[in-house]
Amino acid sequence: MAGLGCSQYTSLPLSETTVEGGQLAIRAEERQPFVIEPMEMDDIPAVMAVERQSFTMPWPGNAYRRELAENRLAHYVVARRTFPVARSEEDVSGGDASSTVPSEPGGLRGLWKRIVGGLGGPVELPALEDERSRRVVGYAGIWLMVDEAHVTTIAVAPAYRGLGVGELLLLSLVDISRSIGAQYLTLEVRVSNTQAQNLYRKYLFKETGVRRRYYSDNNEDALIMWSDPLESPGFLATVEEHRRALAERLRSPRTLAELRSRGAQA
Ligand SMILES: CC(C)(COP(=O)(O)OP(=O)(O)OC[C@H]1O[C@@H](n2cnc3c(N)ncnc32)[C@H](O)[C@@H]1OP(=O)(O)O)[C@@H](O)C(=O)NCCC(=O)NCCS
Repeated sequence: MAGLGCSQYTSLPLSETTVEGGQLAIRAEERQPFVIEPMEMDDIPAVMAVERQSFTMPWPGNAYRRELAENRLAHYVVARRTFPVARSEEDVSGGDASSTVPSEPGGLRGLWKRIVGGLGGPVELPALEDERSRRVVGYAGIWLMVDEAHVTTIAVAPAYRGLGVGELLLLSLVDISRSIGAQYLTLEVRVSNTQAQNLYRKYLFKETGVRRRYYSDNNEDALIMWSDPLESPGFLATVEEHRRALAERLRSPRTLAELRSRGAQA
């Protein structure tokens, strides 16, 4: 998994997601242009399309299949747009050929599947004909290692960047991490990736070291970044302040106008 850029669950993170009494508690806000949901096997072709547009060393599709099916430490989410766009204007296209894979959901994803009446047994992966998959505009994930949540990946389709989707995904990772008992979030990021670094710094991540020549495509160094303690009052205050601002930003007519100009028929 090394070399991705980051070294990937559920929530509607503008309204905090928690695990209460063994059940995911989700309080959805109305009229969100994007929602966060657990990544499903059916999403992988769409995820792969974004992956290939986002990383110079994309993971192979079967890496995501294995992550969803086998890695009980992993929690992956997708961001879906809630508004339709004309098929010809979709930026997220392509995807893997159909294949059949086993589905053995674990962790929060398993919990989610049980709650929504999820999948059992072999799952047929469609191409992007499926309406829900076609609406994937980004994704992210973590591995829980003892009390640390390692961000494995986060990416937004190029046409949907700058609209708050990356922040929405990071917020969901914060919520999930807290729900599953993580004390910190950590990640690796290319030294040249200032956009991603800015997003992490906005959420108080700090640089704690460098992994020399971490990325094998160009021998680029990786910055190692750590969050503040997730339960610290300062961190929580910042998260809630950003959550409110993001909710406002996503509701704003300016944002919706940008979305329309990209082909939305809101
Ligand atoms: C990093 C990435 C996920 C950000 O997603 P996004 O949806 O464009 O980001 P948002 O619109 O939510 O912006 C959130 C914050 O990110 C930072 N940011 C986003 N785009 C930026 C840009 N072009 N320049 C500088 N900072 C930027 C800012 O801090 C921004 O907060 P602000 O709007 O208050 O300034 C996206 O650029 C991406 O998919 N990049 C390719 C994959 C990648 O590099 N992933 C990270 C691997 S570690």
